Amino acid sequence: AEGDAAAGEKVFLKCRACHQVGESAKNVVGPKLNGLFGRKAGNVEGYSYSEANKNSGLTWDEATFKDYIKDPKAKIPGTKMVFAGLKTDKEIDDVVAYLKQFDAD
Ligand code: HEM
Repeated sequence: AEGDAAAGEKVFLKCRACHQVGESAKNVVGPKLNGLFGRKAGNVEGYSYSEANKNSGLTWDEATFKDYIKDPKAKIPGTKMVFAGLKTDKEIDDVVAYLKQFDAD
C-alpha cells in the first residue's frame, strides 16, 4: 500500500537513535539514509559497515527494504544493526514514504 510520509516521520523516531536522514545528515551509529532506494547495500561513503552488510549483494529497492526492516538479522545474518524490526505493514509503508523524500547527496 501507499504509505503516509508524515506518519513515517513518526515511525522514523525508532530509527533516529542510530540514523540520520536529510540535508545535514551524517553517519552516526548507522549510515545516513539519504538516497536509499536504488542504491547498493553497504555503499555510503565514509561509513564502516560489517562484512555481512557490505557483502550482502542486496540493492535497496522497496521489496528488499521491506523484507529487511521486518527482521534485519534474518535478511542479513551478521549485521551489526541491532534492531528488532518494524512489526506492521502500515509502519513499514509509512517509513518507506518518509525515506523516499530524501535524495542522494
Ligand atoms: C544499517 C535502516 C534502525 C543501526 C541500516 C541499513 C538500513 C537501515 C536500510 C542498511 C544501510 C546500507 O546498506 O547502506 C533502518 C531503519 C530503522 C533502523 C529504517 C528504523 C526503522 C536502527 C537502529 C539502530 C540501527 C535503532 C541502532 C540501534 C544500524 C547499523 C547499521 C544499519 C549499525 C549498519 C549495519 C552493518 O554494517 O552491519 N539500517 N535502521 N538501525 N543500521 Fe539501521
